[in-house]
Amino acid sequence: MKLLALSLLVAFSAQAQQTLEATGRWQHRPVGTALTPPMGWSSWNAFRVDITEQKVLDSAKVIVDSGLAKAGYRSINIDDGWWLKRRSSDGRLLVRTGLFPSADAGAGKDSSLRPFTDRIHAMGLKAGLYTDIGRNACSQAYDADSPNLPEGTHAEREVGLMGFMKQDVALFFGEWNFDYLKVDGCGLSSYGRERPHVASGQYREFKPTIVEGSINQSDIEGTKKLYAGLRQALHEVRPRGDYVLSVCLWGTVNVRSWGQDYGTMWRSSRDIWKGFAQMVHNFDTVATREFYAGPGRWNDPDMLEIGNGDFGDAHLTEARTHLGLWAIVAAPLMIGTDLSKVSPAIIDILKAPEVVAINQDPAGHQGVLAYADSDRQILVKTLADGPEGNRKAVLLFNRTSAPAKFTLTAEHLKMDAAAPIALRDAWKRADAGTFVGKREFELQAREALLFTASGKHALSRGYYVSERPGSVYVARDGIRALEQDPVVYRALASWSATDNGGTRPAYAGWGGPRADSTPYDQALSVQRRAFRHGIGVLADSRLQVQVAPGSQRFMASVGVDDSTRGKHAAVSFEVWGDGRRLASTGPMAFDQPARELGADLRGVALVELVVRQHGADPAGPVVVTWGEARIE
Ligand code: GLA
Repeated sequence: MKLLALSLLVAFSAQAQQTLEATGRWQHRPVGTALTPPMGWSSWNAFRVDITEQKVLDSAKVIVDSGLAKAGYRSINIDDGWWLKRRSSDGRLLVRTGLFPSADAGAGKDSSLRPFTDRIHAMGLKAGLYTDIGRNACSQAYDADSPNLPEGTHAEREVGLMGFMKQDVALFFGEWNFDYLKVDGCGLSSYGRERPHVASGQYREFKPTIVEGSINQSDIEGTKKLYAGLRQALHEVRPRGDYVLSVCLWGTVNVRSWGQDYGTMWRSSRDIWKGFAQMVHNFDTVATREFYAGPGRWNDPDMLEIGNGDFGDAHLTEARTHLGLWAIVAAPLMIGTDLSKVSPAIIDILKAPEVVAINQDPAGHQGVLAYADSDRQILVKTLADGPEGNRKAVLLFNRTSAPAKFTLTAEHLKMDAAAPIALRDAWKRADAGTFVGKREFELQAREALLFTASGKHALSRGYYVSERPGSVYVARDGIRALEQDPVVYRALASWSATDNGGTRPAYAGWGGPRADSTPYDQALSVQRRAFRHGIGVLADSRLQVQVAPGSQRFMASVGVDDSTRGKHAAVSFEVWGDGRRLASTGPMAFDQPARELGADLRGVALVELVVRQHGADPAGPVVVTWGEARIE
């Protein structure tokens, strides 16, 4: 009976997630706890599978001694390469004690990573571990020559979670006392029968359920189900939610849309690498996903490469740019370099207190694109109100290899163009003057300037919904056919060459709601009336918006956007407050001017913005605009 009730509840809530009908309750349920983006160090970018306990401890020691821990970098994460095998008698995972000597508990005793986590905890740090949602890990497919791969029979080398979910999670978070788990997906993607390591008989075949590059060949629901099992297993071992779950599916299977419901953070792209173009590619995969992140849920463009290659000592501008970009989009900050070898200059960059503070701002809003062309971007991140009142962080990014000119305007900042705006340089930790209206900058090649800005808000009362994306939950995006996002910079992958047809748009999510843009990256406009501020979304969508206490009124100018694909179906706009319908437009068509829609919000905590489509439109999705959507 209890079981039946539970499964009904699960079925109901899965449905409620996607329904168009307002639920009246904030639907995001955090997985683990990270009110600000997780910070720490991970072994992968520094050592790949050439990892030892000593190397990890050496970097952990620098984390503490250099003040990086104090700056917030506290999670010390072991990535791939720690395991010896899965014992056949009882399925217990054994540690490669040759590399992790403290795990050797003596003859006849089970190896254990508990001494390691105890040591890390005693240093005032947190400990992270790595596994795979399938039977096998990534290293077994991509680092085949490493001497550090799991050993033994097929079953003994199947060290991933599949079939052992509860047992492994209890081991990692119970007995071993880890705080953080990264769960990769190569077991689902890289063990097809055509792969050399499978064809040779070395690994058992697993018919891929994730097909990189093909969203339609990937099993989205099946993948979600596996991660739902993991979420449940974690909840059972750590009911208080004192952990971080890092979902690592490289932006495949539409994880950029559902990752927030299954993990604390989720990778939005393929692996980063120490080349500048790759870093830009990874950045682009989160830069348009502002409505999918917020306190407790973070878009993850991958671990930092600061200290390595294009971001090493000879390239401190690029190193600062990399951190500035991760800061403005509120990305997790996982150091990925051998800290025992880096220079003080790199440590200082990683520690930069005002840059890290922008990343860790308690309001948890991701920065929003205020200007973009292929070469230049301006992003603005709303910060928690300080004594100065209305505060933003703003980043100007020159993506090119030559100097570039920028004009920053009050409008970019959603500030009053007639009032002074004070800038403070987050790198120099110094005031950078005030301006009225606009200010010119010239940036060096690959430079990103990062400021905090304080000034009078452009609205005399209230704020635009699009400047507080962390308060929005996308309950239903209106997307019917999944499409890959074409605006991500198509860098050549480190492991690839130009011997194929090219690097294609790879990540689903195109058409998701956007701040100050249509879902297809056009300017917002209804019957030629342009809106610099607002929300662009597809019809048949529902956005949940948490409103600040004391809010009085919601206002917007709504209509079918000029860039719509479907021009025939009518749509109606509805504003709901705590589950009650407060206002609606009735059916509106493509050729109608924007209509004003207002709703009284007194006493309301949760607004839901619903757009209902009336009938099918053979030409495609109906693009709609909540112009100047704002809360007074
Ligand atoms: C994948 C992940 C990387 C790293 C390796 C380990 O490629 O995306 O971050 O964990 O696996 O093999």
